Amino acid sequence: MSKYLSFVLLGGLSILTHVNASPAPAPSPAPAPQALSSLSSAFSSATGAVASALPTVIGAWPSLDDIEKKLDLSDNDLSNISVSGLLIPSYANFTNKVWNLRFYGLAYKLPNISTSDLDSIINDLKTDNLNQTQQSLLQNRTQDLASIPVPHANFTVMVSANGSTVSNSSGIQLTTADEVGEFDQFVPVEGLNKNFTSTEVVTTGILDVTGPGNGTVILVPTNGISVVSDIDDVMRITKVYVPNQGLFNSFVQPYVNVPGIPELFEKWHKTLPGAAFHYDTTTPVELTRTYVDYLFSNFPVGSLEMRPINISDPTQILEARQNSLLKLFQTFPQRQFVLVGDTSSSTLLSAYPQIAQQFPNQIACIFIRNTSATDSDDKIPFSTKEFQSLDKNRYFFYTTAEDLMDLDIPSGQCVNQSIPQNVTFGEQGGIIGNNSGVCRNIGVERVLWTWVVTVFLGLALYSFVV
Ligand SMILES: *[C@@H]1O[C@H](CO)[C@@H](O)[C@H](O)[C@H]1NC(C)=O
Ligand SMILES: *[C@@H]1O[C@H](CO)[C@@H](O)[C@H](O)[C@H]1NC(C)=O
Ligand SMILES: *[C@@H]1O[C@H](CO)[C@@H](O)[C@H](O)[C@H]1NC(C)=O
Ligand SMILES: *[C@@H]1O[C@H](CO)[C@@H](O)[C@H](O)[C@H]1NC(C)=O
Ligand SMILES: *[C@@H]1O[C@H](CO)[C@@H](O)[C@H](O)[C@H]1NC(C)=O
Ligand SMILES: *[C@@H]1O[C@H](CO)[C@@H](O)[C@H](O)[C@H]1NC(C)=O
Ligand SMILES: *[C@@H]1O[C@H](CO)[C@@H](O)[C@H](O)[C@H]1NC(C)=O
Ligand SMILES: *[C@@H]1O[C@H](CO)[C@@H](O)[C@H](O)[C@H]1NC(C)=O
Ligand SMILES: *[C@@H]1O[C@H](CO)[C@@H](O)[C@H](O)[C@H]1NC(C)=O
Ligand SMILES: *[C@@H]1O[C@H](CO)[C@@H](O)[C@H](O)[C@H]1NC(C)=O
Ligand SMILES: *[C@@H]1O[C@H](CO)[C@@H](O)[C@H](O)[C@H]1NC(C)=O
Ligand SMILES: *[C@@H]1O[C@H](CO)[C@@H](O)[C@H](O)[C@H]1NC(C)=O
Repeated sequence: MSKYLSFVLLGGLSILTHVNASPAPAPSPAPAPQALSSLSSAFSSATGAVASALPTVIGAWPSLDDIEKKLDLSDNDLSNISVSGLLIPSYANFTNKVWNLRFYGLAYKLPNISTSDLDSIINDLKTDNLNQTQQSLLQNRTQDLASIPVPHANFTVMVSANGSTVSNSSGIQLTTADEVGEFDQFVPVEGLNKNFTSTEVVTTGILDVTGPGNGTVILVPTNGISVVSDIDDVMRITKVYVPNQGLFNSFVQPYVNVPGIPELFEKWHKTLPGAAFHYDTTTPVELTRTYVDYLFSNFPVGSLEMRPINISDPTQILEARQNSLLKLFQTFPQRQFVLVGDTSSSTLLSAYPQIAQQFPNQIACIFIRNTSATDSDDKIPFSTKEFQSLDKNRYFFYTTAEDLMDLDIPSGQCVNQSIPQNVTFGEQGGIIGNNSGVCRNIGVERVLWTWVVTVFLGLALYSFVV
């Protein structure tokens, strides 16, 4: 038992050690619950010199391998639990006269965690004043964090359109999932309408798994305009830059739209030619269903990119962003892309200009919400230096959805001249001096989510194993 606790502690203490600027703090042992709550408050002061310590911390974060080893979780412990499958909403292109569907997801097992175990997690988080709605949201959202990947699973999927199955009755056999249970492949599927000028949605499902295995795929016309959007602090108010509030908003509170964005996306959905939506986030894949439920009831149905399961290193998170963008641009070489993000995501501030340089003819517009201009809580510095080499008419820093509402994107209008830009190409915002170069690459959301998953996963497994 102490073995599991020490794992959780290890994560918590190493962060505390780094965020306390005072030299050589004595790592006094504390029970996991305390590590959790003090960690939240330590993060709330994650500004200035404190923030500069964070990349070191996540650099040393345990990998999935480390977690499994530390927990000593053998196949025996999980053998009585049947396999579940997740299909992440994805997209299809039209290749060689057939729709080429991307099947992208995860094979996992979900241990049966009792309500009281979840309640103990709630108390640990010092959220004992939650009302009924908040309790239920917390439970629904934390449940999937206990997903244990199933290596080398073999899934069979089906596809239906307009309520009837188009795949063979025996289904389509996917290639074997990798060692962390992930699969990602394109499969040609016959029997779908071949004359689309607008994006259509088909439903997919994994056969013979426990729990929901359903997904969606958007069939995207060869030509048209695609919108790629970050989710946190672009579409929903998360405040990842105030980590304890970011946590509360992510696990306890109902999700709240950034004002005007549902209307803006609906307008784009109706007016952009062949519009398709791709939502791209570095939120861990375990929270896919929570995000899908929220997104699909507020925004046009689209595809989703989540953070891959076995990522512990910040450069891998940037790589995941770059790869998901690259895959989109390669899959739809004749489409134009509108990229939407915000200044609190350093991965986007790098990945968007990079992809724009690689595929200049496929960029319609890049829109970046200046969250430090709209929210005084955002003290995290950001760097715009990678935008310097881009065509000034292609990108625009906005503060509200209204700034973008009347732009004529198909005609190449990306800039609303009435909004001052304040862009000086370099580090902006925040309170950190120019000499703390390491801070430019901090993505608070990376720190936040890495911490959340590691600690929650640790606790969830702990509850299950004892
Ligand atoms: C698994 O199930 C079998 C038969 O149902 C049972 O005998 C065994 O104790 C179970 N093992 C665990 C670890 O629960
Ligand atoms: C989960 O465990 C509880 C008791 O801890 C039990 O009542 C319930 O039936 C279990 N659910 C499943 C799906 O095994
Ligand atoms: C419970 O909390 C939610 C989220 O903060 C709030 O919207 C709701 O009104 C609260 N319900 C009650 C009964 O207080
Ligand atoms: C939590 O999940 C259950 C079961 O899926 C659902 O009935 C309930 O409405 C959800 N609670 C909230 C607050 O969404
Ligand atoms: C899936 O199929 C491959 C190849 O047939 C096999 O090596 C592997 O063991 C299978 N995986 C599982 C979990 O049965
Ligand atoms: C159905 O099965 C046949 C023969 O196995 C195969 O040629 C065809 O591609 C399959 N169709 C789909 C939609 O998978
Ligand atoms: C569903 O049916 C409608 C009306 O017949 C058709 O326009 C559409 O293309 C069909 N969708 C698919 C995915 O086949
Ligand atoms: C596709 O639809 C367009 C407009 O509805 C029609 O003019 C064209 O003939 C169709 N092409 C095929 C191959 O069915
Ligand atoms: C799967 O089905 C559930 C229940 O019908 C639905 O809420 C959810 O949005 C579906 N998931 C996807 C990816 O379509
Ligand atoms: C998980 O990531 C770590 C670090 O990148 C790597 O060493 C390890 O092999 C990965 N584990 C699996 C199961 O892929
Ligand atoms: C469709 O997507 C695949 C996978 O990204 C790509 O290899 C292929 O070239 C694309 N097809 C077309 C016609 O662009
Ligand atoms: C530019 O600076 C002004 C004055 O500080 C501020 O009101 C405005 O919101 C900023 N604009 C953007 C796009 O950040």
